[in-house]
Amino acid sequence: MRAVVITERGGPEVLALREVAEPSPGPFELLVDVAASALNRADLLQRRGLYPAPPGAPADIPGLEFAGTVLSVGEAVTRFAAGDRVMGVVGGGAAAERLAIHEREAMRCPEGLALTESAAIPEAFATAFDAAVLQGGLASGQWLVVNAVGSGVGTAAVQLARALGARSVGSSRTPTKLGLARGLGLDVAVEGDSTALPAAVREATGGAGAAVALDLVGGPGLAAMLECLRPTGTLVLVGLMGGVEADLSLGRVLRQRLRLVGTVLRSRPLEEKMALARAFEDRVVPLFEGADAPLRPVVDRVLSWEAVADAHRALESNDSFGKIVLEHR
Ligand SMILES: NC(=O)c1ccc[n+]([C@@H]2O[C@H](COP(=O)([O-])OP(=O)(O)OC[C@H]3O[C@@H](n4cnc5c(N)ncnc54)[C@H](OP(=O)(O)O)[C@@H]3O)[C@@H](O)[C@H]2O)c1
Repeated sequence: MRAVVITERGGPEVLALREVAEPSPGPFELLVDVAASALNRADLLQRRGLYPAPPGAPADIPGLEFAGTVLSVGEAVTRFAAGDRVMGVVGGGAAAERLAIHEREAMRCPEGLALTESAAIPEAFATAFDAAVLQGGLASGQWLVVNAVGSGVGTAAVQLARALGARSVGSSRTPTKLGLARGLGLDVAVEGDSTALPAAVREATGGAGAAVALDLVGGPGLAAMLECLRPTGTLVLVGLMGGVEADLSLGRVLRQRLRLVGTVLRSRPLEEKMALARAFEDRVVPLFEGADAPLRPVVDRVLSWEAVADAHRALESNDSFGKIVLEHR
């Protein structure tokens, strides 16, 4: 089979489509014909040699999410059959013609969506759902605050907040992304980085603060994200695009009884990944279905996987809104 291979550490030019060995699925696994995969920041880091694949994932084939059709199933599989359309998050190896995935990690694709649209769902929406709802406890009537709101995770979080009956404040350094995010349900759009958010959140919430903050950027701006929270609020640290160091007011954390939670999907044990996939299929996949579905995948562009190097350049340049999808043909 063919796959995108990281031929050596380096820039986008080190990516090449190569013949590689096909995976051999175990008794509980599905063999999937991958129609499309989507890019993530982790792919960029892995290509540069800064984020090795976890044990069990191919070391040199990037790709953390996919959508495709089940080709065959292991002898113990009960949830899916050949021909089913599935999507999912994997530890790596999604940028390939075929992949193997445990049946309990795979999720059915929403009815009515193309596979190129479904491929834009798993990582962004599962991360946002897990961080804001399962870990942050976001509920109807509350406020969510999110930085880098035009990102894959940000655009998913805004839609999930709206679908739950919560409201959102979000920031982006790019004004056009704020207009697009408003179209997805962002209530208060703030131009700038995390430091622009506390004043806007105070104004939007009448001084009360947000119940949940998703920090997709980290770095020095984390202190400002904490300032956005109401007493007992939860900050979920999802990304570190802005750096790994921050100065915090521990007094604020203590007095306001705040919770600071770090999260990552990729390195979780299999049983936790399965639990998230099951909760997501139950509670979130149906929200993509029907004429007035409250959620929709946000696809910035779909490129042939022959253009994978251009796709990496586009993601690196920060000009995408939502997800960049690779079509495998
Ligand atoms: N923990 C997990 O399991 C997990 C899973 C998925 C993603 N993530 C993380 O979540 C974050 C978002 O991922 P994504 O794939 O949704 O992102 P994305 O679609 O690639 O969008 C990222 C956007 O963030 C903004 N940005 C980039 N660097 C920034 C900086 N230093 N300060 C402020 N804004 C910056 C840019 O938009 P502007 O135009 O606004 O600058 C950029 O387009 C990343 O940090 C990623 O690594 C974590």
